[in-house]
Amino acid sequence: MQSRYHEVYQEWQQDPDTFWGEAAKALHWFKPPTRVFDPDQGVYGRWFADGETNTCYNCLDRHIADGRGGDRALIFDSAMTGDQRIYSYDDMLTEVQAVAAVLKNLGVEKGDRVIIYMPMVPEAVFSMLACARLGAIHSVVFGGFAAHELATRLDDSQAKVVISASCGLEPGRVVPYKPLLDQAVDMARVKPDCCLILQRDQLHAALRYEHGDADFAHLVEVEKAKGTVVPCAVMAATDPLYILYTSGTTGQPKGVVRDNGGHMVALNWTMANIYGVSPGEAFWAASDIGWVVGHSYIVYGPLLAGNATVVFEGKPVGTPDSAAFWRVIEDYDVKVLFTAPTAFRAIRRDDPDGDLVYRHDLSGLRALFLAGERADPETLKWAERLLKVPVIDHWWQTETGWAIAANPAGLGLLPFKYGSPTLPMPGYAIEVVDDAGHPVEAGTLGNIVIRLPLPPGCLVSFWNADQRFRATCLDEFPGYYKTADAGMRDEDGYVFVMARTDDIINCAGHRLSTGAMEEVCAMHPDVAECAVIGVMDALKGQIPCGFLVLKNRVTRDNALIIREVVDLVRQEIGPVAAFRTVMIVERLPKTRSGKILRGTMQKIADGMPWKMPATIDDPAILDEIGAILRNHGYAGPSPTPSAA
Ligand code: COA
Ligand code: AMP
Repeated sequence: MQSRYHEVYQEWQQDPDTFWGEAAKALHWFKPPTRVFDPDQGVYGRWFADGETNTCYNCLDRHIADGRGGDRALIFDSAMTGDQRIYSYDDMLTEVQAVAAVLKNLGVEKGDRVIIYMPMVPEAVFSMLACARLGAIHSVVFGGFAAHELATRLDDSQAKVVISASCGLEPGRVVPYKPLLDQAVDMARVKPDCCLILQRDQLHAALRYEHGDADFAHLVEVEKAKGTVVPCAVMAATDPLYILYTSGTTGQPKGVVRDNGGHMVALNWTMANIYGVSPGEAFWAASDIGWVVGHSYIVYGPLLAGNATVVFEGKPVGTPDSAAFWRVIEDYDVKVLFTAPTAFRAIRRDDPDGDLVYRHDLSGLRALFLAGERADPETLKWAERLLKVPVIDHWWQTETGWAIAANPAGLGLLPFKYGSPTLPMPGYAIEVVDDAGHPVEAGTLGNIVIRLPLPPGCLVSFWNADQRFRATCLDEFPGYYKTADAGMRDEDGYVFVMARTDDIINCAGHRLSTGAMEEVCAMHPDVAECAVIGVMDALKGQIPCGFLVLKNRVTRDNALIIREVVDLVRQEIGPVAAFRTVMIVERLPKTRSGKILRGTMQKIADGMPWKMPATIDDPAILDEIGAILRNHGYAGPSPTPSAA
């Protein structure tokens, strides 16, 4: 089929208001917006500012009103427990209303914040939608984060209620969530009124009733038995739907705020046009609800579009084997799978010839979408060969909430170029500029920026931090949003995303801040200075690598210090930081003004060509770093700089 991409992109370019106004008509509005974009509101303008709607209504009630209440809405499959459950749209409404009733009884009102710290269980999705129904603002915290990260989010969001579970299940171990939650609540300056705990059979948690703990399932059952009806709150399109904290350049995470109206319009548009799925079909984003992929494509996108979404508790490998994905695709007739390239690298490592793939009927699968990190062409080609469907790399960020660049299956596929997530999606005018903000030639590396306004569905600001949003994302290139990704466009306009321009790394598709890890390493009493960089990893794409300079006169065993620092990062940030590689060095390479040369260290570690920085204080230190890295099995064969 001939791709309609160029025609549709042009439609958007010529008249963005008509484009998004038409897209908005697919959704239900209590009061339809009279104006599509208002440049005078918000930090850079607001979408559908005078419209009134409710996201939960559009995810559930709308489909039921259309006679689709019996259709599959949520498929839960736990490879950890063997539990399999299918909820129809009618079932979902019952569950969501019951959770909403529980929250309401606890005094949760429109605009209140609710933190959700849960494993991959359906109750997490019900809780998100219950918040949306009431107009409360949810903030989901990924289960792999430690107590301190949770406490930071409690303080910043000032959440009234926390919904959590007794435990999560990781391969080979039960992760007790409750002690982490208790520690976080004790640490936080702003305490929630109540913590609702879903007790799981694998581990029951001790509830601290005197601190306001309550049994989630019990309260929900009471409301279900009563059949409590909770109507949808009437929300301004611009009211916040959720806050999702994401790594910034420091330990203080940024609370990305998403609204109700623009978000639902954009995500609904993407399901048909980018992913090419129709209502009723099963769509599976194999991610976690704690990440943006989970928010957009486990919860909101598929449910807005009337798809069946899959909530999968397990891993691509080891639960029990590398056929987990194939089993789920076959069992539930999944039409489109979305995951991170790491998942496929892990499967390929365990089953290089794809023997397990051939044991399953994957004939229903139409496409595989990859995002979250650079998709290496080798993995991509491997997946294409085995699955015999288009494997589509697409590029986006927590901040944008949906793809900036993609190959839109729904509009008809464009020619593929390995290493490129293809072309910008309607809504995004991308440019590549040098550090002074001047456009660079095709094929030249630069900063990828997006011309303002950002399309509907992107962040509207950071929570209670408009100034930080401006300073981080808008001020450096006036009139543009800075993606903090470096890359280029070729002569056909294809986008190539090469690296972050800040200290964010992507480890196993998880977004991490090396700055935050440095802050933790520096807390260790024996550490004088430190640097954390991301180094290439065959499985996880990148992993963090720490360099510690110890204080003078420290005589303790280096191996012990390293172990303590590793434990500290795990304890402060969480296991998801995957911080294990640490080297003790005499000194760190710096510029004459004292800036640590992290970029050069990273190039040396990855065995990439590098140039001796003109401003370096002492070039000999880079040789020392190269030698230590080679001792640890990093750095390519050529430690010497290329000619400047
Ligand atoms: N709760 C508690 N702990 C968690 C967790 C969660 N939700 N998620 C991860 N962790 C822990 C892991 O158990 C691991 O702990 P360990 O150090 O004790 O082994 C640690 O955090 C690091 O996790 P991860 O980096 O994911 O490594 P892994 O070896 O457990 O798994 C993969 C590797 C590739 C299988 C896994 O990362 C994966 O499935 N990735 C798919 C990509 C993905 O989901 N990306 C999300 C964005 S699209
Ligand atoms: P997150 O906010 O966790 O989604 O991470 C966003 C970052 O991941 C982006 O800024 C990129 O650096 C990286 N990323 C996401 N998708 C891709 C992709 N398809 N290709 C290259 N990098 C990507």
